[in-house]
Amino acid sequence: MMTVDEILDQPELSRADMIRLLSISDDHEQKALIRKAYSVKTKTVGQKVYLRGLIEFSNLCRKNCFYCGIRNDNHKINRYSLSEDEIYRITAYAIQQRFTGIVLQSGEQNSPAFTKQLASLIAHIKKMANPPLRITLSVGEQSYETYQEWFNAGAERYLLRIETANESLYHKIHPDNAVHSFQNRLQCLENLQKIGFQTGTGVMIGLPFQTINDLADDLLFFKNRNMDMIGMGPYLVHSDTPFARFSASLLPSGERFRLSLRMIALLRIIMPDINIVATTALQTIDPTGRESGLLAGANVLMPNLTPITYRDNYLLYDNKPGSKEEELSDEFDSKLQQIGEKIEYNNYGDSIHFTKRNSHDCISCDNN
Ligand code: 5AD
Ligand code: SF4
Repeated sequence: MMTVDEILDQPELSRADMIRLLSISDDHEQKALIRKAYSVKTKTVGQKVYLRGLIEFSNLCRKNCFYCGIRNDNHKINRYSLSEDEIYRITAYAIQQRFTGIVLQSGEQNSPAFTKQLASLIAHIKKMANPPLRITLSVGEQSYETYQEWFNAGAERYLLRIETANESLYHKIHPDNAVHSFQNRLQCLENLQKIGFQTGTGVMIGLPFQTINDLADDLLFFKNRNMDMIGMGPYLVHSDTPFARFSASLLPSGERFRLSLRMIALLRIIMPDINIVATTALQTIDPTGRESGLLAGANVLMPNLTPITYRDNYLLYDNKPGSKEEELSDEFDSKLQQIGEKIEYNNYGDSIHFTKRNSHDCISCDNN
């Protein structure tokens, strides 16, 4: 049998190689994988971190994903939507903190009023800074026309996680109805790419019923679909969700954490020029989880700028950190310096993969 180092020395990894690497249980092997991913990262995107300020501007959601704490049927939370002024104030703070971009995230809403309000918000935010902020949206499945309207208004990036690339697993983690359609999710990702968004997706790691093979297929999905950005983190239980009943059958949280790091590391190795987020979910399991994510190959952080008074109502899972503290650039600066990483303030940090796709010099991309 090949050693982990021998597997990693090959020019390309097969699905079987990925399954073998995702199944690592030995500490030395885990370290070897992470070391390799970090050396790939150093050579491609560098030891640099890009900050995007996350604004969870509304927890209204029409969906009922079985795993999520802000699902429509959870009546224990207070529903909120930030006013335009509140959003502008937070944006001004992000600019003052020298962030080059913000992420506007909410549950999935699809009224015409929502579409219009978001379009006007985007247009206004674009004028707030010079050079303008990059705007990322993360507001779920929408029509082609709606995506186009927001793109025209000035949003350049979109995050829409596939959650799992296995259609039958997708149906196990979502209700069986037209609002939760795997095919529509795929169509939305295609539409976003066609419109010209830097497109991000991702999955949860350690879901009930999920196998290592599923995770290898998730990585192949990202690559085959030419994604520009990926955010993925461990699945975490929220006690007021239907999936809370599977708590006892999950991988232990330490193992889910290490598996998440292996996913990030492998992704960096097979997609060296994309942007990868070190997610809040990683930090929930381990207080230094985000730093570990960066050392495994991630290069983006999304500090939470949602006002503290609203945060308890945007708990996707239990123990989500930061519901009581502000996140400041200065603190990140010193934490990251300690691990040899540096925040880039004068650079948008667009996905290099996206930039190459659009300059038509990407030899490995056939659908650009
Ligand atoms: N654990 C981890 N991640 C979750 N998300 C939603 N619920 C959970 C959970 N319980 C993730 C989903 C979604 C993103 C906004 O948050 O992947 O796309
Ligand atoms: Fe709504 Fe997203 Fe939560 Fe699903 S994961 S219930 S779409 S906020």
